[in-house]
Amino acid sequence: MPSTRLTELLGIDRPIVGAPMAGTATAPLAAAISAAGGFGTIGASTSRWTADRPDWLRAQIRAVRRVTDRPFGVGFILSYPNADDLVAVAIAERVAALCLSFGDPAPFIADARAAGIKTLVQVQTLAQARAAAAAGADAIAAQGAEAGGHTGALGTLSFVPAAVDAVSPLPVIAAGGIADGRGLAAALMLGAEGVWMGTRFVASVEWEGEAWRKDRVAAASTDDTIWTLAYDLASELPFPDGIGGRVLRNAFTDAWHGREAEIAGRRVELQRQLETAETDADPRDAAVWAGSGAGLIHAVEPAADIVRRVVAEAERCLARWGARVGAGPKDG
Ligand SMILES: Cc1cc2nc3c(=O)[nH]c(=O)nc-3n(C[C@H](O)[C@H](O)[C@H](O)COP(=O)(O)O)c2cc1C
Repeated sequence: MPSTRLTELLGIDRPIVGAPMAGTATAPLAAAISAAGGFGTIGASTSRWTADRPDWLRAQIRAVRRVTDRPFGVGFILSYPNADDLVAVAIAERVAALCLSFGDPAPFIADARAAGIKTLVQVQTLAQARAAAAAGADAIAAQGAEAGGHTGALGTLSFVPAAVDAVSPLPVIAAGGIADGRGLAAALMLGAEGVWMGTRFVASVEWEGEAWRKDRVAAASTDDTIWTLAYDLASELPFPDGIGGRVLRNAFTDAWHGREAEIAGRRVELQRQLETAETDADPRDAAVWAGSGAGLIHAVEPAADIVRRVVAEAERCLARWGARVGAGPKDG
């Protein structure tokens, strides 16, 4: 695959960013994606803040470096408490890039730049894309509502080209619903310089979450996810307005999606129910964060195989179309 402005910016061979999935994109996944020529990331944020988290992050960064000398990044949910402390670790460790989501990236961009670190800012609206560009971001990840985990309301197909137009000449990375080479080829045709994939890597050998969650993603169809506020409200996750979570539908979403007003009054009981579900690995209540691209995923595979296959498939798609266009009737 020819280089893109994203591969040039990050010094990578393949235009695939592994999404910084909170607490589950850890050193093994980041290292595997980067070693395969993509851009691996560590998802630094967790919903339950503990004081040892900066030490955990430092150890994760160093663990990636023991496996590969290829560049990688660290991602942060800026609306979570103590994002500042975690960003400080990543800057001190001189990772290649910070991935900044769900908050104002401006305070972090100058510090990163001064340390020679790139900033990739994930956004859900055009206004946020413009603001991130104005604040000095090096690339914009335009995230559509198909995405797994936390996301907004705009669809990837229209949001990505609109973001490309709005922030040109900054590179845009397409996120949300991209799980195979057809998605990468389409994203490039939309004007993106690469893709940012989460759900596909949930179903990877190196993803840190439990095997049962991976298997459920591999078994799910496009119709099996839902965008909901139910988990965020029950667990009191501090995300900005307009952001909800896309998960695999289950008994909990069947019971609570759309009943937001009631959740606050039942919070203690619901939190206990969700904690028990996590302990018992009970998929009826436990959240499996995943996007509609789950319907394109049929097996849990090594991350390196995913990176290489997605690029090879995209190359075949683009070549096939190039050949068709070349063979078509000529004007004049
Ligand atoms: C399990 C999971 C956890 C995620 N955690 C984070 C996170 O901590 N920070 C973040 O910016 N995005 C997070 N996301 C969203 C991703 O960054 C990305 O936008 C999304 O995965 C792209 O869509 P896709 O899942 O269809 O590939 C997460 C996504 C998933 C599936």
